[in-house]
Amino acid sequence: MKDKVTIHTLKRLKQSGQKICMVTAYDATFARILDEGGADVLLVGDSLGMVIQGQDSTLPVTMDQMVYHSAAVSRGAKRAHVVGDLPFMSYQVSPHEAVRNAGRLVAEGNVGSVKLEGGAEFADTVRAIVRASIPVMGHLGLTPQSVHKMGGYVVQGRDEDAARRMLDDALALEEAGAYALVLEGVPLELARTITQSLKIPTIGIGAGKHCDGQVLVCYDLLGMNPDFKPKFVKRFANLHGNITEAAGTYFSEVRAGTFPDEDHSFKANKNVRLVAATPVGPGVVDAPAEGAEKVGAIYGAPV
Ligand code: KIV
Repeated sequence: MKDKVTIHTLKRLKQSGQKICMVTAYDATFARILDEGGADVLLVGDSLGMVIQGQDSTLPVTMDQMVYHSAAVSRGAKRAHVVGDLPFMSYQVSPHEAVRNAGRLVAEGNVGSVKLEGGAEFADTVRAIVRASIPVMGHLGLTPQSVHKMGGYVVQGRDEDAARRMLDDALALEEAGAYALVLEGVPLELARTITQSLKIPTIGIGAGKHCDGQVLVCYDLLGMNPDFKPKFVKRFANLHGNITEAAGTYFSEVRAGTFPDEDHSFKANKNVRLVAATPVGPGVVDAPAEGAEKVGAIYGAPV
């Protein structure tokens, strides 16, 4: 296995001009596949509220849910650095609560760092979390937890004032100790200026090619939802098509009685003559039969 990616690896990647590859993951199986595919960073994004839970925003996502998904992703990731998103209202109330919740993501979710949305107004919060030895990734631009304040999911920093404020926010987060910054829904010229102004890496989503790395929601890049195609998303596969086709074939074979065939069925031991089932008395547990055939791992778990 290649060395585990750390926040220091990411800094070196920026210094050497190599792009950082980040993608979201929400469970152990996807984490394993994306890790094997070469991800440097797996983000357990609160986007799970939308793509996993079917909510229309990230706002209902809770700390317990983030801990649960973070732990699953961390089990699947071997090389990639795992970042856990701090959900809405887990860090906005006070730096004290933010440190406690960031600590939960690290201790219970086993992540290597946490991410939070917001600019200079959260510099003290970032500082407090970093002081607790928990690395923090910032997130500027289109920050989905502020959907009501933004009046929708709209590109940010288009005019000069807004662009200046975002640059100042980026510098404030770096100064507060953030080790990297997500730039979401930002004009590419502004993302380039911010990237060139910071020593820490920027990771863009809908922020153009000048960022030090890129992130996409894994379901988007894999083409899981044919109805969702914003400008910044490129589909690198058509899993919606592959899955509906595979599932359709499975259902057809079940209906036709051609699945399961002999190759996918177990056989009784030789000389067994089956009679009507004898009821097993209360509290009696059937022991495995002599020479029982082991199924091995089930449900596609890694072995
Ligand atoms: O929640 C998320 O998935 C994110 C990324 C899109 C950056 O914050």
